[in-house]
Amino acid sequence: MPTYEDFKSQRIVHKYIDVPGIDEIDVYMQHEGFEGFKKALTMKPEDIIAEVKASGLRGRGGAGFSTGMKWELMQKNVEPRYVVGNDDEGEPCTFKDRELSEKLPHQIVEGIMIASYALGAHKAFIYVRGEFVKGYNQIWKAIRQCYEKGLLGKNILGSGFDLDVVAHPGAGAYICGEETALLSSLEGGRGYPKMRPPFPGQVGGGLYRQPSVVQNVETLSNLPAILRYGAAWYARIGVPPANTGTRIYSVSGHVQKPGNYELPLSITLGELIEVAGGLRPGRKLKAVIPGGASMPWFTEQHLNVVMSFDDITKAGSLAGSGSVIVMDDTTCVVKAALRLVEFYKHESCGWCTPCREGLDWLVKILHRIEHGEGREGDLELLADMGDNISGQGTLVGTFGTHRTFCLLGPSGVSPMRSSMNLFREEYEYHIKHKKCMVNG
Ligand SMILES: Cc1cc2nc3c(=O)[nH]c(=O)nc-3n(C[C@H](O)[C@H](O)[C@H](O)COP(=O)(O)O)c2cc1C
Ligand code: SF4
Repeated sequence: MPTYEDFKSQRIVHKYIDVPGIDEIDVYMQHEGFEGFKKALTMKPEDIIAEVKASGLRGRGGAGFSTGMKWELMQKNVEPRYVVGNDDEGEPCTFKDRELSEKLPHQIVEGIMIASYALGAHKAFIYVRGEFVKGYNQIWKAIRQCYEKGLLGKNILGSGFDLDVVAHPGAGAYICGEETALLSSLEGGRGYPKMRPPFPGQVGGGLYRQPSVVQNVETLSNLPAILRYGAAWYARIGVPPANTGTRIYSVSGHVQKPGNYELPLSITLGELIEVAGGLRPGRKLKAVIPGGASMPWFTEQHLNVVMSFDDITKAGSLAGSGSVIVMDDTTCVVKAALRLVEFYKHESCGWCTPCREGLDWLVKILHRIEHGEGREGDLELLADMGDNISGQGTLVGTFGTHRTFCLLGPSGVSPMRSSMNLFREEYEYHIKHKKCMVNG
């Protein structure tokens, strides 16, 4: 059985996470800190973009879009232009960005420095989830230390390149992790998502309507190593050519050692569960949510699925934010689904009716089923309401079918629909016997 020790030498982003004092700039600099950025300063911006594209790096925030391609698509020759780090991590059971912010803040700042130089931005922002008080303070400390060393400000290290970086706290809304809502919030507006196109990289779609690139902070944290060792080195890790590198999987639920594990994208779901200590003694696996609370569920038959973006998609779910929620045979799926749908209902920004009203109705019906008050016809009603939010029979991620302005609404349908598809008999038992099939 694999253990995390077998994989630790392959870590990229977490390579130095265990070094005492790595959150201080001097220690960070003794461990390859800012070498990637210094290398970047010797290169032409277009060559850095080509290098990042060749590395195969894909966004770690949810959609898994090619980072290099996003940079190429940013509208050219328009100033000012901005880079924004997305540190608003709010997906239930995803906790990798918080740890990066608290323990490796300079690496995030170095990543945004590389991206800003490559994209010609002279002002960058890191939008930090409001609850991450420690992470926010750590990022500000790292920014201040960079100014003191001449790594930020005017004419950085005599290169002629100027850059200012600002950390900005969110105010506790999950929707502000969605990039257009994040930009609205950063501008001082209410955190509502915006219509696309224009996309953030285009005039009219970005911060202050200027071309902007929004990048998750784990994505940014990969850039220093890609610059240091080159695209070819990075592109050999994982499942080349389209799923390269490592990923920080936040593993939670019924495993013996929940936590963040940085592993190559070639790891299978079964290996990942073992690395996280395996199930509790005597328990059987019931279900796994592979990419954040809103993704379609897997079961025991998916243990051999490789945890890369494309393999998870082929198997019927999505890699999303990289969180892996493990549920053993003590789990009541109705209760689990209710808990998750409640989260999305609470976080609905209220802009569009199917999400604002529909998720509230889903919660009410799931609540009565879970509490022994379910009625005949409730399952059909749930399915119909799900269709009216996320489109006929679809799961989250099926773009173009949802009836909401953004993907938060369909995210709230997914736990109900996935669990009902897989464990319909448990829902029926709840309604018929007024109690839980698993826990009585
Ligand atoms: C409802 C919703 C919430 C999101 N929350 C986050 C988040 O907390 N952090 C994040 O990096 N991306 C989040 N995203 C994805 C962002 O919109 C965006 O795709 C991402 O920040 C781009 O960076 P990347 O390419 O590096 O992944 C969310 C998307 C949606 C639809
Ligand atoms: S789907 Fe929900 S979160 Fe998204 S815009 Fe509509 S109401 Fe707001």
